[in-house]
Amino acid sequence: MAWADGAVRLVDQRRLPAELAFVEVGTVDELCAAIRAMVVRGAPALGVAGALGVALAAATGEDRSEAARRLVATRPTAVNLAWGVKRALAAPDPLAEAERLAEEDVERNRRLGAAGASLLPEGARVMTHCHAGSLACAGYGTALGIVRAAHEAGRRPSVWVKETRPVLQGSRITAWELQRLGIPATVVVDGAAGSLMAAGQVDAVVVGADRVAANGDVANKIGTYPLAVLARHHGVPFLVAAPTSTVDLGCPEGSSIPVEQRPPEEVAMLGGHRLAPEGVPVHNPAFDVTPASLVTALVTEDGVAEPPLGPALARLVGRPEAVG
Ligand code: MRU
Repeated sequence: MAWADGAVRLVDQRRLPAELAFVEVGTVDELCAAIRAMVVRGAPALGVAGALGVALAAATGEDRSEAARRLVATRPTAVNLAWGVKRALAAPDPLAEAERLAEEDVERNRRLGAAGASLLPEGARVMTHCHAGSLACAGYGTALGIVRAAHEAGRRPSVWVKETRPVLQGSRITAWELQRLGIPATVVVDGAAGSLMAAGQVDAVVVGADRVAANGDVANKIGTYPLAVLARHHGVPFLVAAPTSTVDLGCPEGSSIPVEQRPPEEVAMLGGHRLAPEGVPVHNPAFDVTPASLVTALVTEDGVAEPPLGPALARLVGRPEAVG
C-alpha cells in the first residue's frame, strides 16, 4: 500500500494467488468501494488504508470529517480502521501521519512476532485461520509475524492453513505468503481442524484479530470461535496476535462488537458458479467472537497478556491514544 502521485496504490488481494496485481484509487469514494470489495483487507491494513483515505480527502479538497465518516462505515468490525482514520484526522498532515502509521505497524509487528515466537515449541505445527500476514498489515504480519519470527530464529515452524470459507483468505493469501517466505505450509479445508488436533498434529493455534474487547473477547474471521473450542477440547494452546491498535478498551465485551454482515453471493457463488440454489437465504456474518476464557494468551507488541485477560489488557493498553 503506497501513496503514488495523489492516489493510493493497493495490492488487489482479490486476485491472489493467480496474479499480483495493483489498483490505484484517486478518490475517497473509490477507496471506500475498494475496502468494501476487499481489495484491501485485514485489520491493520485497513487502519493504514483509512488514514490514506483522509490524506486523499485532503488532496482532493473534500471535507475530511465527512470522508472519515464514510471510510469508517465501510467495514464496522475491525477497530483499526476507525483508529487509523482518527489519527489521520487529528494530524496537521494526514499523509505524513498515514506513512508514520504504516512504519509503526511494521515495527510493532516485528516486536509482536518475536514475543509470540518464544511461546512456540521448536518445530511447532501451527494452525491458522484466515490471513493475518504481511498484506493484512503494512508489512510482516501479526499471526504470520509470529510464525515468521520463529522461522527467522531457526525454530522450523510449519503451518496448517485453513482455507477459510467463504472468501478463502487462507488458501489464497496465507498459503501464497508462506510459500514466498519458504515456510512449510499445507492447506486444509476448514472442517479438517478437529481431526488434525485429535491426531496430535497441531501444537498451537495462532490467529489474528479484528477487535479485542476490554475483557479479552476476540472478534476475528468467522470460524475462529469453533477453532478455539476445538483447541480447548484437545488441550492445544490458542494464541491471538493483535497489536494494541486492535484492542478497544471502549468496548466492554464481545457482545458489543459490531459484526459485519457480508453479501450472500460470497457464500452462494464461487468464480461465477452457483453453489446454492437461487432464492435460498444465506447468512453470512464476516466475523465471530471468541470468549476470552478460550484464549491461552494474547500477544501484543508491548507484551503477552495472559488470563485473566481483562486486567492484563488494562495494564498493557491503558493508554488513551491506543484505543479506537
Ligand atoms: O474480512 P477480512 O479478510 O478483513 O478479515 C480479516 C481477519 O479476520 C484477520 O484475521 C484480522 O483482520 C487480522 S489481520 C492481521
